[in-house]
Amino acid sequence: MNSEQHWWQNAVVYQVYVRSFADANGDGVGDLAGIRNRVDYLAALGVDAIWLNPCYPSPQRDHGYDVANYLAIHDEYGDMDEFDALLAEAGDHGIKILMDLVPNHCSNDYQWFVDALAAPAGSAERARFYFRDGRPSDDGADPHGNPPNNWMAAFGGSAWTRVAADDPQWYLGTFTPHQPDFDHTNLDVQQMFAEVLEFWFDRGVEGFRVDAISPVGKDANLPDAPPVADGTDMLQVTWENPFTVFRPEGHDVWRRFRQTINDYMERHPGRDLMMVAEAYMNGRPDLMAAFVNDGQFHQAFAFDLLLSPWVKSEIERAIGDSLDIMRIGSTPTWTLNNHDVQRVVTRLGRASATDPNTVTNNALVVRDSNVDVDVGERRSRALISLAMALPGSLYLYMGEELGLPEVLDVPADRREDPVFHQTNGERIGRDGCRIPLPWTDDPTSAFGFSTVPSDASAPEPWLPQPEWWGQSAVTELDGVEGSTLELYRELIAARRDHATPQGLVAAVIQLGDGLVAVRRGDLAVVTNVTDTAIALDMSDPHLSIATPVFASEGAEMHTPGVIPPDATIWFVS
Ligand code: GLC
Repeated sequence: MNSEQHWWQNAVVYQVYVRSFADANGDGVGDLAGIRNRVDYLAALGVDAIWLNPCYPSPQRDHGYDVANYLAIHDEYGDMDEFDALLAEAGDHGIKILMDLVPNHCSNDYQWFVDALAAPAGSAERARFYFRDGRPSDDGADPHGNPPNNWMAAFGGSAWTRVAADDPQWYLGTFTPHQPDFDHTNLDVQQMFAEVLEFWFDRGVEGFRVDAISPVGKDANLPDAPPVADGTDMLQVTWENPFTVFRPEGHDVWRRFRQTINDYMERHPGRDLMMVAEAYMNGRPDLMAAFVNDGQFHQAFAFDLLLSPWVKSEIERAIGDSLDIMRIGSTPTWTLNNHDVQRVVTRLGRASATDPNTVTNNALVVRDSNVDVDVGERRSRALISLAMALPGSLYLYMGEELGLPEVLDVPADRREDPVFHQTNGERIGRDGCRIPLPWTDDPTSAFGFSTVPSDASAPEPWLPQPEWWGQSAVTELDGVEGSTLELYRELIAARRDHATPQGLVAAVIQLGDGLVAVRRGDLAVVTNVTDTAIALDMSDPHLSIATPVFASEGAEMHTPGVIPPDATIWFVS
């Protein structure tokens, strides 16, 4: 294990979905000034860094994951001065900033792509993307009427879009036609991304969450994908395509990125920069190890816990697999929520959450609205209490500290997610976890989301908030003993208290049926994943000289040796 310590190895990082965090100029859309106004809140929570979802200029067809300019700030969110002010304000509180880098694709508004459409087949402009001639139409009438191959897009439909009816070529967009894929074997593309990294490092950014790494790098021949198994979900087909997912060619891209970062750090001693990979490699620690190493990513999200049902063996596997990454000197990167999946409260509140075979948390798939939010919140509190005790870093998604559930009933005419639109509403998509945050219980200011003059009402926020949203507002939970917000604050502090070097060694241990337990240095953390209280065997060597120091359901800690249903207790020996 690498003994060198980096800030990101055990950091708590708070993900800010910029559009939905806080709106300082009262236009119904979150902005950088709004974040700046709330830096105190984030500092009081105790986070080490903020990850900003993409805030570059973008037509927002995938809410920033369609970048039209990698070197500027989207005008609805502010400008470069505002960005610098946020960096400085966060820095004053010891909070670092991570940006979101989208290397697989850009927006179809990006100038290079506009130029490529205007340029002929075979041009240098088109070589930066995947433009290929179409195949003959089925009736043979059009020599280029069918796409170049059978690849499907992640958000529905073919992955290919024809340039124009009189153009022989089509272009590849793994996600949507608005997001053309870059060809990273192209030197212009390579140089552009190196410049982007350095541009933001010069500004003071400490690292990047790197978006959608799995489709970066393709088999150069772009062959047809083999047929998928019967019953494969239509939005899963892309991820089964061996010619574009987790390709060996991708490693070259990450090695170049890493080299750029290493060279930069050499020129700027004292900087400790990082990049964390976004890819669903759950259940594949071998795969993760292939991307996370000295030559590529510093970290990769462990999505296993975010996908796991509320089942002992599954949670144990999720933890064990993710801890495995420590073998090669990396640290796990835990997370229970993000802007692409249904919020954990809703996920664990479903009756199906205790079914080991359930499709657990795919916002693109799950529509079931039969949720017991109280059960879900209790389980989520237990799960975050377990996750906070694990070695490695932890990424929180804004609003989870308020115990927010997914909003499942966003009206169809207010849905914004391209997943909803590309599937003609067959999939509800991800809007329900992106609802603007409630800061107060005052509906006239969009529950404190929008700053408006006292005599004015806020405009309707970009996504509608439910009328009960104020119940979970920051003002309602702040200082309230046992509230989820206070639980998070307490956990982050407790986690810091126990972040000793020896604490970096952890293992799943067995303390009995229905209990998930982890030993980490002098800490033993036990979660009851059943709906009945369980009496612990306090003579077990892991517990015999242990004192409870923390419990996800505080008051219940006082019955010695009994762990309440769906709860977690930390013991120290
Ligand atoms: C990642 C992002 C998601 C986005 C997609 C395409 O999965 O997290 O929000 O839609 O990539 O960029």
